[in-house]
Amino acid sequence: MKIKKAILPVAGLGTRFLPATKAQPKEMLPVFDTPVIEFIVREAVEAGIEDIIIITGREKRALENHFDSNFELEFALEGRGKTEALKMVRSITHLANFVYVRQPEPLGDGHAILCAKDLIGENESVVVLFGDDLVDNEGGRNAVQQLIDVYEATGKPVAFLEKIDRSQTKKYGIAKLNDSNSIEAFVEKPDPKDAPSDLGVVGKYVITPAILQILAQTSPGQDGELRLADAFTAYINRGGDLKGKVLEGTRFDTGDKLGLLRATIHYALKKDEKAVKEVLKGFY
Ligand code: UTP
Repeated sequence: MKIKKAILPVAGLGTRFLPATKAQPKEMLPVFDTPVIEFIVREAVEAGIEDIIIITGREKRALENHFDSNFELEFALEGRGKTEALKMVRSITHLANFVYVRQPEPLGDGHAILCAKDLIGENESVVVLFGDDLVDNEGGRNAVQQLIDVYEATGKPVAFLEKIDRSQTKKYGIAKLNDSNSIEAFVEKPDPKDAPSDLGVVGKYVITPAILQILAQTSPGQDGELRLADAFTAYINRGGDLKGKVLEGTRFDTGDKLGLLRATIHYALKKDEKAVKEVLKGFY
């Protein structure tokens, strides 16, 4: 069965980005001229996803508005003859079928995913995309396509991995990958000396019915949050085969201030290299 649905849990508090995220979602922060969430939706749609299930929370209304039609704006653009802008604005609304589910409290990414459980068929696998990570694989298979390729070849759940600098292991969940590209274990934010590899987990996955089932049976951690990573660990411990896909391309963590700055410069250079280089030159 082809994967047609993506769950985007974006109900987190975005504490790394305060004060910008006090009253607006971090997923609406612009990467040059486009909000982060639109990149993530477009990447999913390009990979054949038709239904986008967004798990939202308080202060996330702007996300729904972004993918809805905006009559006043469209009317004004039409009246002023701004046909290109009008076309662009309208195209966003028609990217996919959007479904919104509220997570009543930020009880963890796993809890957020479970909020969509009733929208997923019993035998259905889905893509899960967190609201932070952008991957640019210029001209090649995009991140969601890369994940789905592995799922279609193996029928197994898949976690996206990135080769990171060993000094940075404390910021990541680190995966131990064997020769068959199966993940044997996860270690959460280890010291570089204790890290089983230099492969950090990125917030993009394919989850199968088995994972969703285990997630539903998993208890929250000591901090009260239920995490997808804990369900993966339980699945592996029961002998389940979780594939790891080392990403092709460049990743940007837009949930981090400098990460968003890097992403902005990267995508701005792609859109208008000459003008952006002029701006950057002004700083040196
Ligand atoms: P993060 O761990 O990045 O948390 O969540 P966060 O709140 O977004 O950001 P920081 O670390 O406080 O700055 C991973 C993904 O899971 C979602 C987040 O929105 C993000 O896309 N999430 C997290 C939820 O949907 N609900 C939660 O309760 C927690």
